[in-house]
Amino acid sequence: MFDLAPDPHTPKPLLYAELVRSASVLIEGERDPVANMANVAALLWMSVPRLNWAGFYRALDDELVLGPFIGKPACIRIPFGQGVCGTAAAARATQLVPDVHAFAGHIACDGASRSELVVPVLVNNQVRAVIDLDSPDPDRFDAEDAAGIEALAAVMGFVL
Ligand code: SME
Repeated sequence: MFDLAPDPHTPKPLLYAELVRSASVLIEGERDPVANMANVAALLWMSVPRLNWAGFYRALDDELVLGPFIGKPACIRIPFGQGVCGTAAAARATQLVPDVHAFAGHIACDGASRSELVVPVLVNNQVRAVIDLDSPDPDRFDAEDAAGIEALAAVMGFVL
């Protein structure tokens, strides 16, 4: 059993340090990428407040394909370069979007989403997946969230 009841007032650096530590424990000794992404999507959902979608898209032949997630059903395939996720994959760089309505080409999977954070998972400088977080709150994510999810992406790189 894996119980986690994070205090919503925990400072973000501490919250993400704990998240990365828990993710490392969860994926240790398991090499199946789908199982690991599924558990880490659940961990994100439990740990990070104010989300309406949390999960993975996998990079397959210059296209992102929906992976394990928590949230409403989402678009299945996103070409590199399209939407926030495809932009993160093509640029191999984190996309922090305070207002999704102001992001040209944003792909709306859940109409409730107002802000979004997408972080690529890189292995040998190649994109293997992206981690996508959506929030119903505008301007939900900041540089500390980005740094925390980038640390998580670094750990996921070992199992994707
Ligand atoms: N909004 C994303 C699509 C994925 S959903 O948010 C789950 C995008 O613009 O790429």
